[in-house]
Amino acid sequence: MDHNINTKTEEETITSTSIHQESKLLGSNKSSYKQILAIGGGKGGVGKTLVTANFAITLARAGAKVTLVDLDLGGANLHTCLGVEMSSRTLSDVFSSDIENIEDLCAPTIVPNLQLISGAHDSLNAANLPHAQKQKLIQRLQQLKSDYVILDLGAGTSFNTLDFFIAADVGILVVLPEPTSIENAYRFIKSAFYRKLKNIEHQLDARELVDKIVEKKEELGIKTPADLLSAIENESSDLGGKVRLAMNEMNLKLVVNQTRTGTDAEIGFGVKNVCKKYFGINVDYLGNLEYDSAVWQSVRRRKPLAVEFPTNPLVATMQKMVGHIVAEQAEKIKNEKSYE
Ligand SMILES: Nc1ncnc2c1ncn2[C@@H]1O[C@H](COP(=O)(O)OP(=O)(O)O)[C@@H](O)[C@H]1O
Ligand SMILES: [Mg+2]
Repeated sequence: MDHNINTKTEEETITSTSIHQESKLLGSNKSSYKQILAIGGGKGGVGKTLVTANFAITLARAGAKVTLVDLDLGGANLHTCLGVEMSSRTLSDVFSSDIENIEDLCAPTIVPNLQLISGAHDSLNAANLPHAQKQKLIQRLQQLKSDYVILDLGAGTSFNTLDFFIAADVGILVVLPEPTSIENAYRFIKSAFYRKLKNIEHQLDARELVDKIVEKKEELGIKTPADLLSAIENESSDLGGKVRLAMNEMNLKLVVNQTRTGTDAEIGFGVKNVCKKYFGINVDYLGNLEYDSAVWQSVRRRKPLAVEFPTNPLVATMQKMVGHIVAEQAEKIKNEKSYE
């Protein structure tokens, strides 16, 4: 029985040929259209690296220039599955004075169009990166001459991990259909929500207003982040509207991995509903990936699934997920351009 739930209709999903067209639209010569995707949220072992590597391969095979960045320092393993020799240069070299160009840190992989900035054996501690260094790293990543930059954030909810997640154009959360994993995801979204809100307060000069509302929390009956957003809107519809818009710019996507039953796959819709109600923000459920022994077999052979088992149904499912993201981002860029 096929338990796979695709939240998109056939018309909404696009083939790899159209990804190619879209990626040309996001062409490498137009660096301002570069998209940064961050994968994070779950604890170790939920499938973040599975999603990161195979999303990246899908985009690269469709003709886009892709850079993967292994920010899962301590647990970095992308180099192994992408056939990258232990490089003498890793992420922390971004800060060394003899590196002028971040491209110099990129190593080619077994997949054409796909390069990797490895985090393996890196002395850098992403969780404790000083603010200035983090900003520099984010800026450098934005300078990469790629159509897509994909960040494997690893586990955790340190401020720095959250900042990379928030800096991305698309934030993808991977969860297992288990209560503990779902709880972790909510905790991550909650941390990202308040971190993003802090940034927005600063950008929109809304600090005073938000502080005033938070002080009257009890009185205003604010129990959830969603209540807080509504209260900001009640106080100032203009500013409140901008805050809500900016919160949704986190562009959260969800993947439920290792599903075994149809009920497992439904969990994604539950999470989406809870997020709307509790956080007042949209989470786009990309769909589920079934538990499949081909995944651990490919891991054992140190090859990404899409390379070792290209005809595996999970590969096609991930292509559809990527197609959806690409189409959505292309639409957004088109709309932004028409406002210019
Ligand atoms: N859909 C799946 N079916 C079967 N096994 C899976 C699946 N997704 C992940 N795994 C197993 O879980 C392990 C951890 O996955 P990984 O992508 O490395 O997680 P993370 O990066 O979140 O730590 C893999 O090595 C693999 O054995
Ligand atoms: Mg990993």
